[in-house]
Amino acid sequence: MLLATPALAQPNAAALYQQHCASCHGAQRTGLMGPALLPESLERTRPAEVLRVITEGRQATQMMGFAEQLSPPEIKALADWVRTPVVPAPRWGEADIRASRIATPLPADEPVKPKWDADPMNLFLVVEGGDHHVSLLDGDRFEVITRFASRYALHGGPKFTPDGRYVFFGSRDGWITKYDLWRLAVVAEVRAGLNMRNVAVSGDGRWVMAANYLPHSLALFDADLNLVTTYDAATQDGKSSSRVSAVYDATPRNSFVVALKDLPEIWEISYDQKTPATPKSQWGVRRTLLEEPLDDFFFDQSYRHALGATRPKAGGSASAQVVSLDMRRKVADLPIAGMPHLGSGITFAWNGTTVLASPNLGGGAVDVIDMQSWKTVRTIPTPGAGFFMRSHENTPYAWTDSMMSKDGKDRLTIIDKRTLTPVAEVREPGKTLAHIEFTRDGRYALASLWEMDGAVIVYDARSFKEVKRLPMAKPVGKYNVWNKITRSEGTSH
Ligand code: HEC
Repeated sequence: MLLATPALAQPNAAALYQQHCASCHGAQRTGLMGPALLPESLERTRPAEVLRVITEGRQATQMMGFAEQLSPPEIKALADWVRTPVVPAPRWGEADIRASRIATPLPADEPVKPKWDADPMNLFLVVEGGDHHVSLLDGDRFEVITRFASRYALHGGPKFTPDGRYVFFGSRDGWITKYDLWRLAVVAEVRAGLNMRNVAVSGDGRWVMAANYLPHSLALFDADLNLVTTYDAATQDGKSSSRVSAVYDATPRNSFVVALKDLPEIWEISYDQKTPATPKSQWGVRRTLLEEPLDDFFFDQSYRHALGATRPKAGGSASAQVVSLDMRRKVADLPIAGMPHLGSGITFAWNGTTVLASPNLGGGAVDVIDMQSWKTVRTIPTPGAGFFMRSHENTPYAWTDSMMSKDGKDRLTIIDKRTLTPVAEVREPGKTLAHIEFTRDGRYALASLWEMDGAVIVYDARSFKEVKRLPMAKPVGKYNVWNKITRSEGTSH
């Protein structure tokens, strides 16, 4: 007689989840007080880290360890299970979006002026991923004006309104937060999706567009985060759909430009007020059909072209292309080997032409490309694969990191834009040093010591000497109001 003994039975992960986890992470794993636990959400979290978090918990958060309550096989089963899709797929429609909105209107008696004394155009926002906070920095004195809790895992850079007063943050779990930098208060929040890539704000400050992985959609809001409409990220015939890789504002075109992860199409959605008539025609989708989907992209200074990279297919190699947004077709292949990180590209004048420089995720190099001929003019070696690159109109140097490489992650390479050669390095041995942003005037470069007990390090952009160090919890990015709202050529979107 064969009897299944309890010791041999597979742990029932779904039941364990409902019993121990659902109260915080949601019955459908879409998040409540705790973050969403979906395959899309955990894409960047290593399996070992998921196991560790469930076993030991996360210090100083509500996530406690389950080592005492659950056996190692049960924890393993849960860790594997949260990486499988929820069936049936969780839905997040227009009614859900509308119902999620939280608005905290301005008290009528509050004076409409900044609560601080600093240059409002030289503020920095520092996103601290370590404990999900944001610090607001005075960019002249290098002092923290305030520090506030953000939604879990902000994704994509924060986006400012054109007057620099408000900023919109997007979170991994789909929350958009509108924050008033003058009054230091949250104005409104809405959940645009269940897993979101980024948000864009229109050049006139009136519209906010969100790019979702889950559901496969874009969501359009007014500046107070009231939903205007959603778009299914699908082919014209509606037969196949796609995750949305990214949405960026193209102010000179009065439009949002959208890349789809799984479909070979790039979309342009106009918010031009001169395009009148029905909401449909104003907000219609103009599709450009491509041969391959774009992962991330970048505009040239004229905004006539989108420069995009395609992820390698199994066994193949990555490629990059130039798409004319006016002609609505690919006009050139970009000669970049490896995996260019075009989302972090910069442009500058060189030798009578304009060049594009972008770090390469595939290897230790910065590729410099002539934007008239679309030919490579130089491949500048760096200590390892990099992620971010930045410069500023007022400095002859561009700074890049090598944060994707084990040996090179602890240094920044400083490249002379005139000679296209590396001229100096700054280093924090054994740590990760990444993501550079300049002050409004280009005098100082701020870099992230990308560690839990990290810092923002301020360097003199001429002497490359450290000027100041501000402690921060894993400062994953920093954004200068002026450089962003003026679309500085030394910075990405
Ligand atoms: C009391 C509320 C609560 C309960 C119960 C809870 N969690 Fe969490 N969990 C959280 C919070 C809050 C976080 C975010 C912690 C942080 O800030 O890093 C989190 C984070 C996590 C993470 C890391 C997610 C990421 O993106 O890195 C995983 C994995 C996780 N929890 C799994 C579980 C599992 C599995 C259970 C049930 C066995 C569970 N949690 C029970 C609140 C909870």
